[in-house]
Amino acid sequence: MEVLIADTPEAAAVFAAAAVLDGLRTHRGETQVLGLATGSSPLGLYAELAAAAKRGEIDFSQTIGFALDEYVGIPDTHEQSYRQTLIREVCEVIGLPVSGLNVPNGHGESVAQIAAQATAYDEAIRAAGGVDVQILGIGANGHLGFNEPASSLRSRTRIKRLAAQTREDNARFFDGLDQVPTHCVTQGLGTVQEARRLVLIATGSHKAEAIAAAVEGPLSASCPGSVLQLHPDAVVIVDEAAAAGLKNRAYYDDAAAGLQFGI
Ligand code: GLP
Repeated sequence: MEVLIADTPEAAAVFAAAAVLDGLRTHRGETQVLGLATGSSPLGLYAELAAAAKRGEIDFSQTIGFALDEYVGIPDTHEQSYRQTLIREVCEVIGLPVSGLNVPNGHGESVAQIAAQATAYDEAIRAAGGVDVQILGIGANGHLGFNEPASSLRSRTRIKRLAAQTREDNARFFDGLDQVPTHCVTQGLGTVQEARRLVLIATGSHKAEAIAAAVEGPLSASCPGSVLQLHPDAVVIVDEAAAAGLKNRAYYDDAAAGLQFGI
């Protein structure tokens, strides 16, 4: 795992974009496949990717995107559905075609149908050649995607109940807590780990505890983010505030000096 500590959230976005572009350039499949995360954390990163595309350093017009997760119980057309959020905040920003955007399907006649669609989602990722670079944020409780604490470290894409804290954190996007869906379909931690590179970005003091647990805590389902410790190519990029709980910082600073992302 590489841990990069940036002075500011803006600098963290620049580092994260460099790590994503570096990972995409070395992709092995026929098609470039980018794993997409919602949330406020990667917005600066998407802006940096857009700037790189504008400079001609990367082209997302043929890229396939796979979202980490989607709510269950709201229509795809709902402005807070992750499909609409990703169209707005990623496709329209970096130029990834909407036709190339895949989002888990949270609709169905039954839980069994949604479960079958979730399994098909994992198969679709494999059929596309696997995710080259998975962009990740982290929840204040350590969740990845919507893998809440106690999620199996080998879980596959499936329907999950949202934690109370996650629903409260996301209530700001809805007209009150009671409007926030109670369930989601999320890529599993096993699914996420199959991406060739993981790039996690976190900024702000409210993420410091989760980052310390994910990077330096025990590998544990109690902190889903700790699964990055198992991945052979995981990059964690934080600003000073989110790095506040890290004990091994001198080493990260030292190691970062030798990194190759063109920074
Ligand atoms: C959301 C998403 C996660 C995201 C996290 C943090 O609920 N499902 O993928 O990483 O919460 O969001 P933010 O970046 O806004 O803090």
